[in-house]
Amino acid sequence: PGELLALFEAGITDLMLTAPVASAAKIDALARAASAGARLMVVADRVDLIAAYGDAARRHDTRIDLVVDLDVGLLRSGVTEPEQAVALARAAADHSYLRFAGVQAYQGRVQHIDDFDQRRAANDEVARRLVPMLDALAVASLAPAIISGGGTGSHVLDAERRLFTEVQPGSYVFMDEAYNSVDIAGGGELVFGPALRIAVTVIGHSSAGFAITDGGSKSFAWDGPAPRVLLPGPSGDRLVGTIEWCGDEFGRILPAAGCATLPIGTVVECTVPHCDPTINMHDVLHVMSGDRLVAQWAVEGRGRAD
Ligand SMILES: Cc1ncc(COP(=O)(O)O)c(C=O)c1O
Repeated sequence: PGELLALFEAGITDLMLTAPVASAAKIDALARAASAGARLMVVADRVDLIAAYGDAARRHDTRIDLVVDLDVGLLRSGVTEPEQAVALARAAADHSYLRFAGVQAYQGRVQHIDDFDQRRAANDEVARRLVPMLDALAVASLAPAIISGGGTGSHVLDAERRLFTEVQPGSYVFMDEAYNSVDIAGGGELVFGPALRIAVTVIGHSSAGFAITDGGSKSFAWDGPAPRVLLPGPSGDRLVGTIEWCGDEFGRILPAAGCATLPIGTVVECTVPHCDPTINMHDVLHVMSGDRLVAQWAVEGRGRAD
């Protein structure tokens, strides 16, 4: 909710909250945003949450679009049975301050399956779980207008299958090492290149002779493969190694074959293991065109995971 409200405060009004909440204060803040002009869509996976959104919408004299959350294999949130989906959709449709807008069927585990055919098989399993719930909703005259799911890893398969009315990709904007090995389109080609880099500086050399940088846990989210280290130069970027975590404020450069230890003061640019939480660590994105700084973007949602 905090990140959604940050987007609203920054002027974005068409907003979808993809996670359930359990706090009256947060539900109230969301309803207040709706009454202040947000076209708000929220997911719910239980009747009491639908009632709480309805009450909050009534208090603020506004209307909230309700999306029923379906669990299609992620085991995180959402209902699994067709009759549960129908009961929730009906609860939303029957509430005068809510509108039943559709369903969410997000399966995050499919996204990072490297092999295209294995990812297709996992995505087929999503459809196998989803279709009976969609059929039951249609029979109950509650056919969802929005069927939302998928992500960067599955979007090509989702487009092929045509079950969703919209996909929810996020990482494609920046990409990261966690996605680097994923064959997104099935032909082995690079679909989205890495656009996000963290600049770190060599601040010293360890006794074992490795270059040590000033970027550790506070600069990168490390839940992914190691960052690659690129040395920008007039004839392009040169891959000079990878970074190994070495502390909260430190990284150790493991040099690529044939690369010498970088001198103190060298600024290198690194890809990131996982882009979403890495961005959450930084106040500003420096937008570069080649080596020219064209803009600085504040990360308004930073620290707003409340
Ligand atoms: C509900 C939901 N939708 C979409 C996404 C975006 O997925 P990706 O960054 O893999 O495209 C996420 C990622 O965490 C998510 O939790």
